Amino acid sequence: MKELKGKVAAVTGAASGLGRSMALAFATEGMDVALADVDDRNLNSVENEIQNLGVRAIALKMDVSRGEQVEAFRDQAITRLGGVHVVCNNAGVSPLGAAWECSVADWQWTLGVNLWGVIHGIRAFTPHLIAQNEGHIVNTASVSGLISPPGASAYNVTKHAVVTLSETLHHELREKNSRVGVSVLCPAYVSTGISNSERNRPKDLPASERSAETLARQAMLKKAVASGKITADQVAQAVVAAIKEERFYILTHARIKGAIQARMEDILEGRAPRDPMKL
Ligand SMILES: NC(=O)c1ccc[n+]([C@@H]2O[C@H](COP(=O)([O-])OP(=O)(O)OC[C@H]3O[C@@H](n4cnc5c(N)ncnc54)[C@H](O)[C@@H]3O)[C@@H](O)[C@H]2O)c1
Repeated sequence: MKELKGKVAAVTGAASGLGRSMALAFATEGMDVALADVDDRNLNSVENEIQNLGVRAIALKMDVSRGEQVEAFRDQAITRLGGVHVVCNNAGVSPLGAAWECSVADWQWTLGVNLWGVIHGIRAFTPHLIAQNEGHIVNTASVSGLISPPGASAYNVTKHAVVTLSETLHHELREKNSRVGVSVLCPAYVSTGISNSERNRPKDLPASERSAETLARQAMLKKAVASGKITADQVAQAVVAAIKEERFYILTHARIKGAIQARMEDILEGRAPRDPMKL
């Protein structure tokens, strides 16, 4: 999509971090924005920030893991803003833990938000974009969708799944000769609320007890996220550019490419995978 001005963007996880920055970047481009998040207090202040930029914004408190709520979000955006052109399936959570240490509730929560949230977004919005033969879908994965850092099993599973879901969706749309584009966003550390995502955990999916190792890793993650060199606003600018240039992969952190290459080489050479955190 070359021209964004006057179009409509729908962003999930818009109350904080990357979602908030993407929503503001779209508004700066002259787009109206539909915002969704479980955190309605912060969502409402983002709605105000966007309205102050002179475009229309609507905000809906919703849970992306619930298909009917994502469909209601689509319906609200279309009814109140007149359509949707750019969809960012972005909401995410990142509890840590080894594969055996995560409880069923940990797995369900992480898959529900990070994977089902994207699946519901694709199912709800893609037919609308195909029908208007214009639009772009941006799915937020992570570098953890391209490499497998230890201690984050559930997170890695969801992010790898979002990468292949996005690649497959891209092929499916090309097969139909649709003009709807797809991008997958794969950042490394960016200073946002992601290392504090327990704040969003539903009460009926309680956390399992964490090992000392996981607690230490959690502290390291907090530090790494807080000291991320690339800002959420810079990531949002990369997303805007990718939509305009119709670029599929959005890799914001060049230094991580060595670890991705190492993984590919290990696969092709038939070697056991090297630990990407030790390369
Ligand atoms: N920050 C990083 O270092 C980083 C790196 C790679 C990928 N990501 C991905 O970026 C995306 C955005 O995360 P962020 O870094 O901005 O973190 P963040 O915590 O600042 O923002 C995530 C937003 O998602 C919302 N959310 C959580 N559960 C939800 C649900 N069930 N339904 C609706 N909204 C929900 C939160 O309230 C929050 O506003 C996530 O998918 C994350 O995995 C982040």
